[in-house]
Amino acid sequence: PFQRNATIVVFGASGDLAKKKIFPTLFTLYCLGSLPQNIKIIGYARTQIEPDEFQKRVSAHFKTTDKTRPKILPFLQLISYISGQYDTDEGYIELKRSIVKHEDTVGSSPSSRYRLLYLAVPPTVFVTVAVQSKKHLYPPLNEGQARLVVEKPFGRNTSTSNELQEYLKAQWAESEIYRIDHYLGKEMVKNILLLRFGNVFLNAAHNKEHISNIQIVFKEQMSTEGRGGYFDDMGIIRDVMQNHLMQVLCLMTMERPVSTSSEDVRDEKVKILRAIKPITLDDVVLGQYGRSENSSKSPPKPAYTDDQTVPDTSRSLTYAAVRLFIGNERWDGVPIILRAGKALDESKVEIRVQYKAAPRGMYYDLPRNELVIRIQPNESIYLKINNKLPGYSEDITVTDLDLTYNQRYPNIPIPDAYEALLRDCLSGNPANFVRADELELAWKVFSPLLDEIDQNENIKPEIYPHGSEGPKSVNQFLRDKGDYKSTMTEKDI
Ligand code: BG6
Repeated sequence: PFQRNATIVVFGASGDLAKKKIFPTLFTLYCLGSLPQNIKIIGYARTQIEPDEFQKRVSAHFKTTDKTRPKILPFLQLISYISGQYDTDEGYIELKRSIVKHEDTVGSSPSSRYRLLYLAVPPTVFVTVAVQSKKHLYPPLNEGQARLVVEKPFGRNTSTSNELQEYLKAQWAESEIYRIDHYLGKEMVKNILLLRFGNVFLNAAHNKEHISNIQIVFKEQMSTEGRGGYFDDMGIIRDVMQNHLMQVLCLMTMERPVSTSSEDVRDEKVKILRAIKPITLDDVVLGQYGRSENSSKSPPKPAYTDDQTVPDTSRSLTYAAVRLFIGNERWDGVPIILRAGKALDESKVEIRVQYKAAPRGMYYDLPRNELVIRIQPNESIYLKINNKLPGYSEDITVTDLDLTYNQRYPNIPIPDAYEALLRDCLSGNPANFVRADELELAWKVFSPLLDEIDQNENIKPEIYPHGSEGPKSVNQFLRDKGDYKSTMTEKDI
């Protein structure tokens, strides 16, 4: 049930994440009637901003229609702004006053009070805000609950992430921390467990006897322009692979949980993560985008190092393909490839499960079956099957069994990931958030590789043209290391 008396505090309210994601999402939830009845939203940041100016900033990125436009004003009335420092007490004291005033005005029973504290702040002040919030904003015993919502970056490797979690753990119980990985809020990602365990035929073939390889692919056309400062320190593995793609991998490969409860599901994820060996340099292709190739039509697109905020000699990765193995009974020996890149030819995120070839004899060299789960854009699930061409022909064609969402469910809107996750935060459902042990184990898979790349200056990424498919050596890598054989069907295009 939704908390009836909630206060949301958005720390870092003048920043990008708050402006572009959090406030617009809260507005959408408001329009859908999905916010608790008695809600108060307080933005907090260091910048001095007049209330009018703040409201203007907050609403700049709202997605509106004729129907929702009249709701902007009443929504803005739920929001106030407090400016204050992160490391001194005064601002938090004012915040507390404002929260308590709201709670008292609403006059509900103390136990139903719910304080959601969203840390949309830079990593440098992360711990400070968590500690200060606990000191000032944590409700007294039996007078309600508080939850801390936090987002990556959670450190740069195992040791820095663990250090951060230790600080958090000293103040907040694990059940009070919601670590966001927004991929867990995506519709298709939320569908994976049902698809696997609710369909007998898929589940029966989901193992090393029937599957040749699995690929999880993240492609983005967008480059890192304007985000160089953040990105250069992170690189693509920390930015999307260690978190988003690993979560998808866990859901695709874990054993059947005892129930759909958050702890049962996360217990199984942890078992899979423990069974993955750290990735070595032999099992990777590393890339960075250079300038786009010459085209008579348009000026070349910049290289990664053309960005003003990126050092000319940067070795930061904008592309990575890695192979890993899961050492358990179900997956032993099955190569799993994660690929992620920016400034590529298209934007697409999908999972590809490639089955082993049908036995030879009656037929020879039939193309392999492949199950594709397209997470975005245009959510769909399709299965490539071998089918006789109709009529007198004996020809075999590869055809898609196709479940494309906008055709099958044309009238059902698909919620944005943040929308789904903020709803979960408000209703107190932790299932789609990352538990501390998952985070630590996901880092352990990548940390040795990342540390080695950081320390060894001779490891240089392969340059690929901006707007291309990625580093040239990837195709060979997929064939040799991934046992991947592509079959193009209409849906793949
Ligand atoms: C973020 C990364 O976590 O995810 C970005 O920091 C990336 O670099 C983004 O672009 C991708 O999210 P989505 O929802 O657009 O696929």
